[in-house]
Amino acid sequence: MKIYQRSKQESQLKNGIKIAVNIIMKKYDKKDFPVTEARRFLEPTPTVLVTSAYQDKKNVMAMGWYTIMEFVPSLIGCMISSGNHSFELIRKSKECVINIPTLELAKTVVAIGNCSGSEVDKFEQFSLISETGKLVKAPLLVNCFASFECKLYDDKLVKDYNFFIFEIVKAHVASSPKYPKTIQYRGDSHFVESGRNIIINSLK
Ligand SMILES: Cc1cc2nc3c(=O)[nH]c(=O)nc-3n(C[C@H](O)[C@H](O)[C@H](O)COP(=O)(O)O)c2cc1C
Repeated sequence: MKIYQRSKQESQLKNGIKIAVNIIMKKYDKKDFPVTEARRFLEPTPTVLVTSAYQDKKNVMAMGWYTIMEFVPSLIGCMISSGNHSFELIRKSKECVINIPTLELAKTVVAIGNCSGSEVDKFEQFSLISETGKLVKAPLLVNCFASFECKLYDDKLVKDYNFFIFEIVKAHVASSPKYPKTIQYRGDSHFVESGRNIIINSLK
């Protein structure tokens, strides 16, 4: 079986100069795969911790099922199961904070995602340090390198799909490390650790 394929490609630059690029491309012998597990390959988003608060209650849950929807305004679409304690806190308060933990917190993230705030105070249980946000009541997690304060932007899909569209209204990001190591969720205890940052410029 031929695994590698050498391909000669040509790109046209704007100033009219053509450059030839040699690319070694791997050829994959693909097999049928369950469509329900396709998400394992489509979820390169870092697993986050979503904090919420409503009246005298606050909570935190792990979240891996979300997507960027728009840059301006900064919109994020998130699937938050209605069975989660967080669901009602977020639905009623119309707010949350999306906190990004690093690899070192991986075990804590999994533990947070495997218990419910309806039974345990997760801030106490996991010794999470929180601070007050600027624009929302949900707490920011000090243990995470970035925290994004979010307000509900559109709830059209909540009833049918538990899908919330949030606008990030305030972002808090540590200046170091520049490229923190994060984890991406592939489902059923499987994670991918983020790799090296690479920059690939387009050749338009
Ligand atoms: C890594 C990981 C990612 C998860 N992603 C999501 C998610 O995107 N949406 C969701 O509804 N639940 C997700 N869960 C499950 C919730 O985090 C879990 O049900 C949690 O216990 C809910 O907490 P709560 O009842 O205190 O709100 C995830 C769990 C783990 C471990």
